[in-house]
Amino acid sequence: MSANVSENKTRWASAYPDLGTGPIPVEPCISPSFFDAEMEKVFRKTWLKVARVEELPKPGDFKVKKLAFAHTSIILMRGKDGEIRSFHNVCSHRGNKVIVESGDETFGSSKAAVVTCRFHGWVYDAKGDLVSVPEEEKFHACFNRHENGLTAVRTDVWAGFVFINLDAEGTQSLADFLGGMGVHLGDYPYEQMPRCYSYYTDLECNWKVAHDAFAEAYHVATIHAGSFPNVFSSGLENVQLFGPHRTTAVCLSMNGEQKPVAKLANDITGASLVTNRGASMLPPSVNPERRPDFSFELSVLFPNLLLHVSEGIWFTHQFWPLSHNRTRWEGRYYLPQPKTNSEVWAQEFSQVLQRNAWLEDTATMEDTQAALESGAKKVMHLQDDEILIRHGYHAIEEYMAAE
Ligand code: FES
Ligand SMILES: [Fe+2]
Repeated sequence: MSANVSENKTRWASAYPDLGTGPIPVEPCISPSFFDAEMEKVFRKTWLKVARVEELPKPGDFKVKKLAFAHTSIILMRGKDGEIRSFHNVCSHRGNKVIVESGDETFGSSKAAVVTCRFHGWVYDAKGDLVSVPEEEKFHACFNRHENGLTAVRTDVWAGFVFINLDAEGTQSLADFLGGMGVHLGDYPYEQMPRCYSYYTDLECNWKVAHDAFAEAYHVATIHAGSFPNVFSSGLENVQLFGPHRTTAVCLSMNGEQKPVAKLANDITGASLVTNRGASMLPPSVNPERRPDFSFELSVLFPNLLLHVSEGIWFTHQFWPLSHNRTRWEGRYYLPQPKTNSEVWAQEFSQVLQRNAWLEDTATMEDTQAALESGAKKVMHLQDDEILIRHGYHAIEEYMAAE
């Protein structure tokens, strides 16, 4: 489904009548019991992006990703066969963490493509098999090394993004889960822009409050008056819904004046969103009319990944729930490898500008949460160009209602 009727001020409600037009309850953002149910019914059931393939370039490379909402961490490891597999980071001996994390994400590499539990030295290979147990002969007859590998987690890769699914009984493939969204964004050349600037912080807000603050352009004129004055249009274009996923084009207002240094940086690399440029690398379904004011495609891969593609830049926001009012936010900005010193400078300048915009975005979230928790308001009101937020609550509701 897609729609683009610029004259109609409630065009998205007309295009997507199933989403309704009423106010949205705030309870899902402030209720601890809703949060617990949401972790069970959404986060433990859906595919979640946990890595890029470039983070594990060689056989034996591994990454440990903490998943606080599920009280676990996951070891992702590339095997000698090139496959990336994942496992719960829990030893089969006495349950210690096989790899002790040094933060939210821990990286390592093993020439032999094995991981060793530091407690008593049990060794597991990249297929999760238990390959060595010190003093194995002292274990009793009921112990069988071949039955005591690591607990596997369903893992699949789409467009270089590594996803896991904690639902061991689930049968939906990653391709089926992504559906039309996987097709829409699958052919973008992510790997050609491997230079990553990443940021993260813990925010005292519900993960949906964080998502919502990034899922509309209505706030740009107020919140980003400092970083991107008069640059973006507040309306959305080409909104499309793919099951629980959603996407839109964010466009330039075409009357913003770039500040002189920003203009210089853009002229060197085009490493910022405000450059008006052609569309040589975008898949045909993104900005299909090749409109000249197109800036970037804002897409939400349900539940917690925002993926944005533009010409020469792509970036993500991901929201990891910690509790009903705490969220780990990760922002990543990807650019091509610079070839000259002036390109290095221009990229640094552009990403600092972007970082400032993200600081402006994240600055609203804790205030929103605190105010919602006062209980003074039971609902929020969404305008037509906040359709992605409306669709987000609708998708959550559907998962929560499922048996
Ligand atoms: S707990 Fe891992 S080897 Fe003992
Ligand atoms: Fe913003």
